[in-house]
Amino acid sequence: MTCDYFGKCGSCTAYNKGYTGQFLDKQEDARALFSPFYKKPFEAFASTSSHYRNRAEFRIWHEGEAIDFAMNSVDGGRVLIEQCPKADKAINALLPRLKEVLKQSPLLRHKLFSVEFLSAHEGMLVTLIYHKKLDHAWEEAARELEKALHVRLIGRSRGVKKVLSQEWVVDALHVKEKTYRFKLLEGAFSQPNRSVNAQMIAWVCSKLDPLTCKDLLELYCGHGNFTLPLSGHFRAVLATEISKASIKSALENCTLNGTHNITFVRMSAEELTSALNKEREFVRLREVDLDDYDFSHLFVDPPRAGMDEKSCAFAAQFEHIIYISCNPHTLARDLELLTKTHEVAHFALFDQFPYTHHLESGVILTKKT
Ligand SMILES: C[S@@+](CC[C@H](N)C(=O)[O-])C[C@H]1O[C@@H](n2cnc3c(N)ncnc32)[C@H](O)[C@@H]1O
Repeated sequence: MTCDYFGKCGSCTAYNKGYTGQFLDKQEDARALFSPFYKKPFEAFASTSSHYRNRAEFRIWHEGEAIDFAMNSVDGGRVLIEQCPKADKAINALLPRLKEVLKQSPLLRHKLFSVEFLSAHEGMLVTLIYHKKLDHAWEEAARELEKALHVRLIGRSRGVKKVLSQEWVVDALHVKEKTYRFKLLEGAFSQPNRSVNAQMIAWVCSKLDPLTCKDLLELYCGHGNFTLPLSGHFRAVLATEISKASIKSALENCTLNGTHNITFVRMSAEELTSALNKEREFVRLREVDLDDYDFSHLFVDPPRAGMDEKSCAFAAQFEHIIYISCNPHTLARDLELLTKTHEVAHFALFDQFPYTHHLESGVILTKKT
């Protein structure tokens, strides 16, 4: 990918060596960081080198009557942009059309602060974020905009969210020969790079040995992105997550995909750890008999902060641990603890965030004999 804004826009920071070079550099850094835990060659999965992000967010820059999309610049200011080659093609096609409509409508552009896009196979969510109250006149104009652009529009302002038609879009995820359909909800977490996401899920599934798979416990499950594809390999799955909205879409995603062996519960990792350690009882678990499960595998995909110390200690009781991480540094910290009881069987690097220094990793650990 080439971009007119390389060196100016603060969003891409590793571009000098091209796509392949930046990924090789990240692999080199990972090898050094993880060498205490894993000596064998890493498996490495590349991204497509442009149009790989299905989520994007731009600031709005106002200059008199004119508006522009803007990103933070490398020097802390802003850079005005027309296109963003890392955002998917549907988002790029929408940018000039949206700008034109906003140009024509003082009501829609007044105090517009930023715009977020979530692009899916079956539609596009556009969230307009304002520094003003969204009144009836705004709502009428926004309805026209929604119709004109064939998108699902949401307005946000100081804790108020106005959903004009629906706050979700359905995406299709192709993993090996299967296609899953996922409802993605505005404001809830979803993986930003669809092709790398599919590769991560396929990699995890390919490492599962049917002879060892009984029941699966998943922490930080989001809307069921990994849960649904993994559920086919297990008798039963218990999956937990802190966000109410994500759990709601996870339940709907089970229905969308005809999956029946998953129980989703809204609980933090810390709460679930206490429940399974029999330290606390939770009303939210009253329909769930924890003793019915025979967990062979623990799957975790925590936020950048990684797992807390207590959750790592809890993980030690599982025969197999699958850890997906978006932060190599917290992963290295957690591996310090996890490798006291487990050894790393497989390690993969996924270029989920090209042209940045961020890297996604997948680690499969097996209990030491
Ligand atoms: C990196 S995302 C992964 C989600 C999902 N695995 C996916 O692939 O879409 C991390 C998730 O952890 C959730 N989360 C954050 N802190 C948590 C906690 N303390 N306990 C449980 N879930 C948490 C977030 O809401 C988010 O959905």
